[in-house]
Amino acid sequence: MRRILIVALLIHCSSVMQAQQTRLQQTNFKPAQVWLANNGHPINAHGGGVLFHNNKYYWYGEHKIEGKSEAQFADGGIHCYSSTDLINWKDEGLVLSVDYKNPASDIAYGCILERPKVVFNEKNKQFVAYFKLYLAGAGYVTSNVGVAIADKPTGPFIFHHKFHGADSPNGSGDFSMFKDDDGSLYHLTIRKPDKAFVIGKLDSNYYYPEGAYTVCKGIESHTEAPAVIKREGIYHMLGSGSTGWKPNIARYYTAKSILGEWTNQGHPCVGYNTVNSLGVDKNFGSQSSFIVPIHGIKDSFIAMFDIWQPENPITGRYIWLPIDFVEDKMSITWRDSWNLNMFKKTIREK
Ligand code: DGJ
Repeated sequence: MRRILIVALLIHCSSVMQAQQTRLQQTNFKPAQVWLANNGHPINAHGGGVLFHNNKYYWYGEHKIEGKSEAQFADGGIHCYSSTDLINWKDEGLVLSVDYKNPASDIAYGCILERPKVVFNEKNKQFVAYFKLYLAGAGYVTSNVGVAIADKPTGPFIFHHKFHGADSPNGSGDFSMFKDDDGSLYHLTIRKPDKAFVIGKLDSNYYYPEGAYTVCKGIESHTEAPAVIKREGIYHMLGSGSTGWKPNIARYYTAKSILGEWTNQGHPCVGYNTVNSLGVDKNFGSQSSFIVPIHGIKDSFIAMFDIWQPENPITGRYIWLPIDFVEDKMSITWRDSWNLNMFKKTIREK
């Protein structure tokens, strides 16, 4: 009798768990709506980027602390999620935490830790995380590039060092790390304080810039939030202007060489956000953070944007939209709901 009861209880528990999983299984991207992870909590990975490794995607972003505004220092470290379909994400937790114990640490609580991006170094078999790092108490004046290292994509990442970047004592701000086909890694960033947009190559360990930075000809000054991809030999860079946490119109450039010269392509967005009624002049109320190349579907990319909420940053939502290429130029149209079948259709039509 006891055995029957235990078996019945196990069957009940597993069907409850299955029902919960089914409830959380999502089929579509729903830009600007609350996006839940597998544990039922909204995804907390702002200003993020995605790495594809061994058949899985890893989304790394700013972990915002519950109850803190940006002015009260909401940055808690790097939060990671994993997925095989880019829609359903498993919470892998905080893979790098700010240091709450040692006020002398470069990542002591109170620092600003933004826009993390992770790259895999084939040579050292290391996962290298980069982030904007303003030391505690320093405000937004002098920025560093923080570097942390892990031997697994899910961390833990150990803080390794920092560098200024951009050959400027005031360092660099928003950035993109672009790994080219030959494994060369580039740091494309806004230089402080003059806000010129510059590029530098990293050494083969991906730890430090290996030489001088050069100004990217053709990219306007004050360009933030850069996200770079390469498609059919052409580099495409999406970005924004510089208006703090407030949204502004997107910027878009292309080049035949990563070092430039770049051509200004205006902005690539079309339509308006039906959740907040904001159009392309405000970039749907968001700012770019990354472009995800979709593995296994040729020439398919997703543009990632953040809706910032500086008063309560943990509630910031995400806008992920598919990129169409029209005459080899990016076009990003607002969609209320979509999924990857859209790319498959586009390919069939071609
Ligand atoms: C815009 C940047 O893109 C963000 O990462 C953040 O630094 C805000 N500015 C701060 O105002």
